[in-house]
Amino acid sequence: MRWPKGLPGLCYGGDYNPEQWPAEVWPTDVELMRRARVNLVTVGVFAWSRLEPQPGRYDFDWLDRVLDLLHDGGIRVALATPTASPPPWFSLRHPDALPVTADGVRLSHGSRDTYCASAPAYRTAAREIAAALADRYRDHPALALWHVHNEYGSTCHCEHVAVAFRSWLRARYGDLDRLNEAWTGSFWSQHYSGWEQIRPPRATRYLGNPSQLLDFRRFVSDELLEAYVEQRDLLRAATPDVPVTTNYVLGGWVPVDHARWSAEVDLVAIDHYPAEAGPGAEEQTGFAADLARSWARHGQRTGRAGRTASGATNRDTSGGPAWLLMESAPNLILTPGRMHAKEPGRMTRHSLAHVARGSRGAMFFQWRASRGGAEVFHSALLPHAGPDSRAFREAVSLGALLDRLSEVDAGTVRASVAVAWDVSSWWAMQATVLPSAQLDYLAEVSAAHRALGRAGHPVDFVTDGDDLFGYALLVLPALYLVSDRYASRIRDYVAAGGHLLVSYFSGIADEHARVRVGGYPGALRDLLGIRVEEFHPLDPATRLPLSDGSTGRLWAETVRLTGATPSVSYLGGLLDGQPALTRHGYGDGVAWYLSTRLDDDPYRDLLARLAETAGAAPTCPAAPAGVEAVRRSTAETSWLFLLNHTDSPQAVPVSGVDLLTGAHVDIVRLPAGGCAVLRED
Ligand code: GLA
Repeated sequence: MRWPKGLPGLCYGGDYNPEQWPAEVWPTDVELMRRARVNLVTVGVFAWSRLEPQPGRYDFDWLDRVLDLLHDGGIRVALATPTASPPPWFSLRHPDALPVTADGVRLSHGSRDTYCASAPAYRTAAREIAAALADRYRDHPALALWHVHNEYGSTCHCEHVAVAFRSWLRARYGDLDRLNEAWTGSFWSQHYSGWEQIRPPRATRYLGNPSQLLDFRRFVSDELLEAYVEQRDLLRAATPDVPVTTNYVLGGWVPVDHARWSAEVDLVAIDHYPAEAGPGAEEQTGFAADLARSWARHGQRTGRAGRTASGATNRDTSGGPAWLLMESAPNLILTPGRMHAKEPGRMTRHSLAHVARGSRGAMFFQWRASRGGAEVFHSALLPHAGPDSRAFREAVSLGALLDRLSEVDAGTVRASVAVAWDVSSWWAMQATVLPSAQLDYLAEVSAAHRALGRAGHPVDFVTDGDDLFGYALLVLPALYLVSDRYASRIRDYVAAGGHLLVSYFSGIADEHARVRVGGYPGALRDLLGIRVEEFHPLDPATRLPLSDGSTGRLWAETVRLTGATPSVSYLGGLLDGQPALTRHGYGDGVAWYLSTRLDDDPYRDLLARLAETAGAAPTCPAAPAGVEAVRRSTAETSWLFLLNHTDSPQAVPVSGVDLLTGAHVDIVRLPAGGCAVLRED
């Protein structure tokens, strides 16, 4: 079965909001979509007030017409449930379903995402509108995919949430003694003697309880997941063969545990908007795409992702776990204070970077630029300037390009190097006062991914519960929380011959964010053959010379050897002669420990060395710096994506059939900012 149902190749399109336009515009939209070879659009994401203008009175006529027009034009639909933005009448009728901030302020209607997911009235209304849509469109031939809600992530601190939080905690801890123990209730007199005393973490006089904050984040993720599952189940019951998904929000704000959610979606869908305008945008793109593929794989192992209703997995017709870039910005990068126009070709390169890593296509926010509303200056495939524009011409050429690449959908990315991803560690690091304000989970994980990417290695992310044994090298950056069970799985991986690099601030605390005493990193001391006595957070400007000629920054530690051998040492100062990098043979494998932050180049060199020793090969050693090389493959065929992120032409001596031109080549010549996809010899 093709995925989503009925799509002939890679998906191309984006959010389509016809309700913002007069009906006369719709046929033009379809005609222009056809010109751009758009084959999938997401419809209805924020259309609740148009679909249900009054309680229980539905107006589907306009949507009928839109879906018919799209179907006649050969365009499939990801039909959204509009539950991320309840209509004004709903909020007025159910003020208790408006969200309350941590400061106790109840928000008002006038934007989007203004609801409390624990409010019974909201949940009922959400189920009702989803059921009405399912009922109306279950047999519509344009329906390819259900797109539930939009970017689940809203939090609330009201009384409904208090009730739900308590019941989540009861299920997790069973009794209050265990909860008090897990939350270190004896600190600052926070020992609870009745469940009703527990509240969502509201504004407090001073620092909140980090274990409570961490559990609240976990609760919010589970609560929102329950809201998604309710809708999914009723959609699935109405249309068992139509896959159901929801689009994940990515970035510095991560409201849900995506790996866990991925067991409950049929297709992992991500929205990705890089937050840097420079070359960092390309590295953030690769990072997001590798995460999405890894979550999809995790979901495929632990749940339904990639399965059809009949139980067959998407591997029947396609390579790898099912995931799709559901939203990206066609012609802009948003950074604080400024929108940067993407240079010509950059939209195409970002799209191909996702497809190279397994995305089933490239989708955008949005098809046609809005003429009013809060996002009026957001870019679109069809800009305010209309079809006679550079941006639309690039959209047309991207459609044609994706059309020519459809065969790559069979291939999957194979990585021998993995980086640990752990949302609990991230949330816990956000919930407490860390020894250094510079310590940032996302920055640590990104640095490891970036270093491996620059060394030319494809990377999978692994979450607790994933199989580690298939990887030659595993990197744990800032894995602050490690449960006993996870620690023993990591030990087993190394004992069986795995190579491991652990960087500072890993293995410090248990799953409740309680420090493991006796020397850091408590959970991994024996495996690493070290004991860390003290942290030395550094001033941002400080550089500590190291014995191999590189420098350490941000962080240093007093590391005592208990079996490991020093590989690189600190030079001078308080830590003179003490180990910065250590190596410890453990069983059939090797465990390395890095107690400081290296600059990007030495980090890349270190990881390249460790990967080579571990037996992992880079994708395309012939690719020059600035040319990204990513491979998708099946047992018989492989496709090499080459993306030139530099502003000069580049040549790569590799041979195969260039899918863009159909010609056989022995050397790929990439124009500045250009791309090629090769079916390799
Ligand atoms: C998100 C949302 C979209 C839109 C874009 C703007 O991804 O899902 O509705 O707001 O951001 O970048």
